[in-house]
Amino acid sequence: MKKYNFKHIYVAVLCLFFAVSCSEDNDPVIGPLVPKANEAQDVKTTGFTATWGRVFRGTAYQLDVSETSDFSTFLDGYNSKEITSFLAVIEELDDNTNYYYRVRGIVDGVATPNSNVVAVKTRLIPGDDLTLKGEADFFVGVAVSPERVADPAHDEVYQREFNSITAENAMKMRSIFKGLDASGNIIYDWTESDAIVDYAEDNGMNLHGHALVWHESVPDTLANFGGSNAEFESIVEDYITTVVDRYEGKVDSWDVVNEAVEEGSGGLRASVFVQKMGVDFATKCFRFARNADPVVKLFYNDFNMTTDSAKRNAALSIVDDLIAEDLIDGFGFQMHISFNFPSKEEIETAAADLVSRNLLVHFSELDVRVNASADITEFTEERSLAQSDKVRDVVEVYDALPAANKYALSIWGLKDDDSWILDRFPQDDWPLLFDEEFEKKPAFSGFIEALQN
Ligand code: XIL
Repeated sequence: MKKYNFKHIYVAVLCLFFAVSCSEDNDPVIGPLVPKANEAQDVKTTGFTATWGRVFRGTAYQLDVSETSDFSTFLDGYNSKEITSFLAVIEELDDNTNYYYRVRGIVDGVATPNSNVVAVKTRLIPGDDLTLKGEADFFVGVAVSPERVADPAHDEVYQREFNSITAENAMKMRSIFKGLDASGNIIYDWTESDAIVDYAEDNGMNLHGHALVWHESVPDTLANFGGSNAEFESIVEDYITTVVDRYEGKVDSWDVVNEAVEEGSGGLRASVFVQKMGVDFATKCFRFARNADPVVKLFYNDFNMTTDSAKRNAALSIVDDLIAEDLIDGFGFQMHISFNFPSKEEIETAAADLVSRNLLVHFSELDVRVNASADITEFTEERSLAQSDKVRDVVEVYDALPAANKYALSIWGLKDDDSWILDRFPQDDWPLLFDEEFEKKPAFSGFIEALQN
């Protein structure tokens, strides 16, 4: 019997290794024998760019494009269309329609087997029959002002598209609380808040009250308060009680406390409310609100909730205390975001923390900046489509929540030039769903597309 020694085994192993590595698809020398079709690029309402990878010794490619995934029919001109590069721009397609493509390489004059099939849906051109509120099974909200609800052009779009409103500023403390009179009673001005409440009532819209306590809207009297902490607290109690009571049955939900947590640190923001009322000021405020109206839904609201997990966890720990006392119904993620963050997964993960607590989820202040790093001077098509994709991500995540957790998804303003982003930051931006002429942007289509999938 023939003996094998170590040398034979060594050579056999080397041969085996060589054979295996030669058969790998990504071998740099040999290369793939069938082309790989990649995700479509530059997807628009009437076209897209099909792309694929090279095939070993390929001299050209044959592209098939079809409206059916089994390629039983072909688009005109796209049955084995011969192409010598790695992409094809397909144009003059229908909007909101599924297309499929695959390629073969030509090697020594012979076609390789088919690549994988890539599916792509062109973007939607929304007709008048498609409205935000019409497609959603949750409230779709918009931030409004007394001036804008009185403007017929705004009013028309508010009523057509939305079934919920939030006062952008008119129901904040500084808009309502105008000081103390000689006897120490709060001087109220209801002009602006009443205008918003009346508008919601007149048009049968859900009304989200925003916000009873926020460190950026503190009346001067409270910011420079000279009295005792107990007096400060009793003024805040009086304020919350009076406002919630006045709008009982008219306001459907309130942001009781807005933005209590500091960015990054995960600690409480050192607001005047913390200084005067203590670290449990939020619980006290929710108690005041709950005592004033046992039915209205009470929310905690904050920003960077999907990107800053330390901040989210700090907010959740406030909220867990409120849950323990049965003082809270929901949580608002403000969603002031950008075209390139947060990721869809980050939004999903953050929202899951609310679902596991049985809270109502409000995506409360959606706007999607496209120029946070000030790298563009005009609104490019590429940015516009990326913004549309991000809106679609947000709405898809929201729509996929369990029905019992869905409350409202609210946009922080109607048209680009209304947005607070332009006041807050020096550079231009285009963060909303409508342009300056009240025309629907691709971002609007992204919202609708998410609800149609
Ligand atoms: C903003 C308004 O949009 C601006 O008009 C105002 O000058 C400042 O406040 N988080 C909130 C909102 O909770 O109340 C803020 O609204 C935006 C950030």
